[in-house]
Amino acid sequence: MAKIKRDLYFIGFGNMAQAIYQRMDQSVYENIFLVEKSSQRIKEIKKMDSIGSGEFCLSHHTKIIKKLSKNKVTDFDIILIAVKPTQIKSVCIQIKGLTKSPFVISIAAGVNTSKITKYLDYSTDRIARTMPNLCAKKGMAITGIFYNGRNNSIKKTTHGSMISKIFTSIGQVLWVEQESDLNSITAISGSGPAYIYYIMNAMIDAAVEIGLKRSDAQRLVVQTIIGAGETGKDIDNLGSEIIKVSSKGGTTEKAISIFKQKKLDTIIKQAVKAAYKRSKELSK
Ligand SMILES: NC(=O)c1ccc[n+]([C@@H]2O[C@H](COP(=O)([O-])OP(=O)(O)OC[C@H]3O[C@@H](n4cnc5c(N)ncnc54)[C@H](OP(=O)(O)O)[C@@H]3O)[C@@H](O)[C@H]2O)c1
Repeated sequence: MAKIKRDLYFIGFGNMAQAIYQRMDQSVYENIFLVEKSSQRIKEIKKMDSIGSGEFCLSHHTKIIKKLSKNKVTDFDIILIAVKPTQIKSVCIQIKGLTKSPFVISIAAGVNTSKITKYLDYSTDRIARTMPNLCAKKGMAITGIFYNGRNNSIKKTTHGSMISKIFTSIGQVLWVEQESDLNSITAISGSGPAYIYYIMNAMIDAAVEIGLKRSDAQRLVVQTIIGAGETGKDIDNLGSEIIKVSSKGGTTEKAISIFKQKKLDTIIKQAVKAAYKRSKELSK
């Protein structure tokens, strides 16, 4: 049987869509359409392409368009919605106006599938919701995926494997059975890169205050965080590891004692819980 060739549509081609486009396997799609309404953004995309800026280069089967073309989209095609959460409704109105019902994947934070199903008048098995993060740019994201309330079995379906293929191109994936878990994922890995940047920034400032050049401070902090992340992957009990590496009367012990005294762990938990609460409010 001949393999079905699908088209992929990105609706909204901002930062996240660009990161996915650059890393995904584009050859599995017949055509890729970048549906972008901002003329300024279209100019930027064309300019980046013409100067081959960074890794950006449009493939031969990619076309930039301003609107979905009503009769061109088929039931086999995939639409990846990558606009701001407040713009989702108007995008859904466009999709609803199509003659066919393509499969829809949303990366918008806080817009739940029941809202999207309502806007589209679709069944839930035609919609997946995901939560990637900024690290997509370097292929180091982790994306929470909710599709149809099932976990292991769904990954093996055609749509499940298509979703996996797109998001493993930007890093790891974590399938969830309950959509509400995406609120927790938003509070941890969705917003998480900014928490780490905050800590990095404070460490860089501290390094400068104790005499280092800012450029050296930045290198030391960045590499320490990358290294700690890599080595931390293999440590089961981080609490005991901290005790193990803190020699009695030494420097690490001294610094950790300040974290404990100021209750840094409580502050971090409060921040994560506030993000979680906000994510729940936004998805109502
Ligand atoms: N950045 C992150 O770390 C992150 C993480 C996880 C999820 N997300 C989600 O990813 C989504 C995209 O974020 P982003 O930062 O990539 O957004 P962005 O840079 O603002 O890109 C969205 C683009 O879509 C365009 N657009 C809006 N409505 C459109 C329509 N109807 N048709 C065609 N194009 C349209 C916008 O144009 P205008 O500017 O003219 O409106 C803009 O150029 C958001 O929903 C966000 O919640 C982001």
